[in-house]
Amino acid sequence: MSSILADAVVAPSGTYRPIPTQENFSLVRHAFAMRKDLLGMVTTLEKRYGPVWRTPMRGAGIINLLGPDALELVLKNRDGAFSSAQGWKFFIGRVFPGAIMAMDGDEHRYQRRIMQVAFRKSALKTYLDLMTPAIDQGIAQWLPQRAVGERKVFPLLKQLTLDLAASVFMGVELGRKATKLNRAFVDTVAASMAIVRRPIPGLSMWRGVRGRNLLVARFKELIATKRATHTSDFFSEFCHAESEQGEKFTDQEIIDHMIFLMMAAHDTTTSTLTTMMYLLARHPEWQERLREQARAVGKKELDQDDLDRLVELNWAMREALRMYPPLTSMPRTCVRATEFMGYLIPAGTMVGIFPLHTHYMPSLWSDPYRFDPERFGPGRQEDKSHAFAWSPFGGGAHICIGQHFAALQVKAIMQQLLLKFRWSIPSDYAMPFQMVPIVRPKDGLPLRMERV
Ligand code: HEM
Repeated sequence: MSSILADAVVAPSGTYRPIPTQENFSLVRHAFAMRKDLLGMVTTLEKRYGPVWRTPMRGAGIINLLGPDALELVLKNRDGAFSSAQGWKFFIGRVFPGAIMAMDGDEHRYQRRIMQVAFRKSALKTYLDLMTPAIDQGIAQWLPQRAVGERKVFPLLKQLTLDLAASVFMGVELGRKATKLNRAFVDTVAASMAIVRRPIPGLSMWRGVRGRNLLVARFKELIATKRATHTSDFFSEFCHAESEQGEKFTDQEIIDHMIFLMMAAHDTTTSTLTTMMYLLARHPEWQERLREQARAVGKKELDQDDLDRLVELNWAMREALRMYPPLTSMPRTCVRATEFMGYLIPAGTMVGIFPLHTHYMPSLWSDPYRFDPERFGPGRQEDKSHAFAWSPFGGGAHICIGQHFAALQVKAIMQQLLLKFRWSIPSDYAMPFQMVPIVRPKDGLPLRMERV
């Protein structure tokens, strides 16, 4: 369906289908629509222009490509036509310099080889052992024994995953520094979507740069001790990681990777847990079904084998990630002219792809707007309808390195939530979503919670 064309080739007019350009475009309106209802916006534009169209912003514009074949073309990147570095640097270059996601080719492969060491199976098991008592302690404070009350669960989950990140990622207790650190993370992530890209005091990019400086200072303080000791956290793993080729990280690489990793892990996992709690509140029959399964496992401190037995919880997690993938779209820049569905994508243009949209395509999913975890079960396996039908973790060389850790953490937390609490929402409540940069509720998701 696609082919690479030499950079210098200019297509003779008429050979390729003309790419329609979005009309009556306003940057501010577009940014608000993306935030509020990205799926609605993309679906409307698809109806008007088809699966390929140009958004007239950032010089040559952004060419949007829809569908699983587009995801495969861009993420697999077999011909090296798409640059992740040039796609992501615009958004995260200033606040996350040295982020592995914004690297290409040999540099990316080199960094990923070393980083992979910290995600080996034996390390994941140790992280799980570290996490389970901390989860128990963290959520016990949400509601006193036998109490009933309303709780905004998004900030609670964010605090919990940040506390877990402190122990599992950094190997420290944050104590009083937690609030400042949390603020620094929030600011750095928010800066990725700043409309004004320069750090002007008081504006989002300025807060992001200030947040990053605080994080760098915190990691610098700790690095000598971490180099000198061995503990079972990511920070220590990065300090000692050595690839099969004997490659190791420098201090600066460790700091850059740690800051990016904590952001990549913390916000995405919080988003997934929040969405799951919301969907299970809307579908109490599923909440009960999963609680039964959690009870059948019979303990809150799980090992990998227990997690593998939570089959239906796994479907529910996959369904939540289908309906609300934390990263709804991914940017790339086309660096060598290439063809897709008869359209020419010229070198130098940014490209937008949307797992969120593919996750709702009726050609791939039955009744896609319905919460239906069984679609992942045996006999249906709708996610297998195309290699890129379900891609909340991306694909190709940049596929999420933390996907197994994320699944482990989400299931470990959900298991304990199901065993401790029952939660519900009024029947007319619909969670107001903010769709970029990472999916989250605008109202913190107030739930009525009771101890079980
Ligand atoms: C449910 C939770 C998560 C989701 C949905 C998610 C999603 C993604 C996606 C879509 C990408 C690819 C971006 C692209 O190709 O442009 C990615 C990359 C990445 N993720 Fe995750 N992620 C999650 C959790 C985590 C966790 C827990 C960690 C770390 C412990 C992590 C670390 C990373 C890193 C380092 C990359 C960049 C990999 C590379 O460029 O080679 N993520 N993630």
